[in-house]
Order: sequence, then structure tokens, then C-alpha cells
Amino acid sequence: MNLNATAVVTGAARGIGFEIARKLISDGWTVAALDMLEEDLKKSASVLGENYRPYTVNITDSEQLAEVAVAVGNDLPTVKGIVNNAGVTRDALMMRMSEDQWNLVIDVNLSGTWKVTQAFMRSLIRAREGSIVSISSVVGLTGAAGQTNYAASKAGLIGMSKSLNRELAARGIRVNVVAPGFIETEMTKKLSEEVRGDYLSKIPAARLGLPVEVAEAVAFLMSPSAKYITGIVLPVDGGLTT
Ligand code: NAI
Repeated sequence: MNLNATAVVTGAARGIGFEIARKLISDGWTVAALDMLEEDLKKSASVLGENYRPYTVNITDSEQLAEVAVAVGNDLPTVKGIVNNAGVTRDALMMRMSEDQWNLVIDVNLSGTWKVTQAFMRSLIRAREGSIVSISSVVGLTGAAGQTNYAASKAGLIGMSKSLNRELAARGIRVNVVAPGFIETEMTKKLSEEVRGDYLSKIPAARLGLPVEVAEAVAFLMSPSAKYITGIVLPVDGGLTT
């Protein structure tokens, strides 16, 4: 199916963002894949084909984003979707966390999401339809030791999205959040057996999630099947936060 619409997906070069791009393309979207990793973007483009359109950009840089927004507007079908997926961690106990660690995580995860959304939302408003999904984390709901910066950024995304929903819902634009639990990615592969076992004991489903399972939830919220769903936080966590 060709929707003749573009979804901007940040952090789409690898991991969960790559799976989100793959699923949205199979649902008929053209994906503008925004990421800093030029080589990974190229590799992903060679796998996902012509409806995966790579743009190398740092989402903390408003000027770069403004240029990309113009290029996407000129080159691709109307932007009717935004998936804010790019995110980073810089873990440390608060006593030892540097200001740089705090700032980077807030700059990318929270301020970067705000900048990307602002750079592309005009197109959704003009079209009088669209869907915005931001990837938070269960950590934004529960907190986690060693992640004051990350948890604050992911909880901030929820407040931002709920507020934006109140600005945009009557204009036909839906704003939702997906909160993944522990997902099998490069990040979680690095965990020790002990830490992994500890997480597993807390997950009712007794396994980690897969990137594709996050992508399915995002694609649902991006689709007309979710037409009357807006302002929610959807956990994809095997029951961890229930
Ligand atoms: P990842 O590190 O594999 O992918 C993140 C992508 O974002 C990378 O391609 C990276 O280059 C890009 N990115 C980072 N900073 C950027 C910037 N300033 N400008 C442009 N691109 C930038 O991570 P993963 O695991 O795929 O995570 C994706 C999202 O899901 C993140 O927001 C993460 O916080 C969230 N998440 C992940 C969980 C997990 O278990 N892996 C659990 C809960 C949430």
C-alpha cells in the first residue's frame, strides 16, 4: 500500500528505530530516517530500499534540523507522521553524575524531541491530520537508580506529549507515547548475566522484548486503527509496570 505520506523517524539507523522504519514502510509510509550515524543509515537504506530516505543530522542542532525539514518538504510526500525515537544514556549515580552527562541526555532525549517535533509539525497541521509518537521508557514511569538524567528526560517526554495533545487533538493530530521495557538491543546485550537475571525475575512475561514488538505498537498508533486514541502512554514491557 502507498499512503503517499511521510513519517519522520529519528534514530532510525539501527536498533528499535530501524525496526520502526521497516514496519512503517511495510504499512505504506515513506520514512525520512534521521540519524547521526551516516554509515549505519547507508547500510539500513541498502536493506530497506527506496522508501527509506536517509538524512544525516544531529537532532540537538536546530539549524541542521531546519535544513532537513526543507529538504524533506521538497523531496518527499507530505509529512503526516513523526516518531521521536532517538535517545541516549549516560548512567551514573547522582552523587557522581557530571553536568555534561546530565545535559547530553536532556539535550538529545527531551530537547531534541521538542526540536524535531517543532520542525516538522507544521506539515501535519496544514494536512489537518497526523500522528506523533515519542519513545519514552518504563524508567520514565518508575525511575531507576543511576538514571536520574535518563528518567527525567523520559518522564519529560510524557508531560510534553500530553500537553501537545491538548494543543493538537482538535486539529486531527494525535500525540501518543510508547514506553518500552527491557528490549533485546545492543544496549541490553552488554548487561551481565546477573543484572539480566535480576531484570528477568521482575518481568511477568519472563523474557526481554524484541525491537519488532515495539515497532508493532508504534505502527498501530501511527495507523488509522488508532484514530480515536490520543494522549496515552502505551507500555510495551511484558507486564513489568502493571
Ligand atoms: P540505539 O542506541 O541502538 O539507537 C538510538 C539511535 O539514536 C542511534 O542510531 C543513534 O545514532 C541515534 N541518535 C542518538 N543521538 C542522536 C542525535 N543527537 N541525533 C540523531 N540521532 C541520534 O538505541 P535503542 O535501544 O534502539 O533505543 C531507541 C529508543 O528506545 C531510545 O530512545 C531509547 O531510550 C528507547 N528505549 C530503549 C530500550 C531498550 O531496552 N533498548 C528500553 C526503553 C526505551
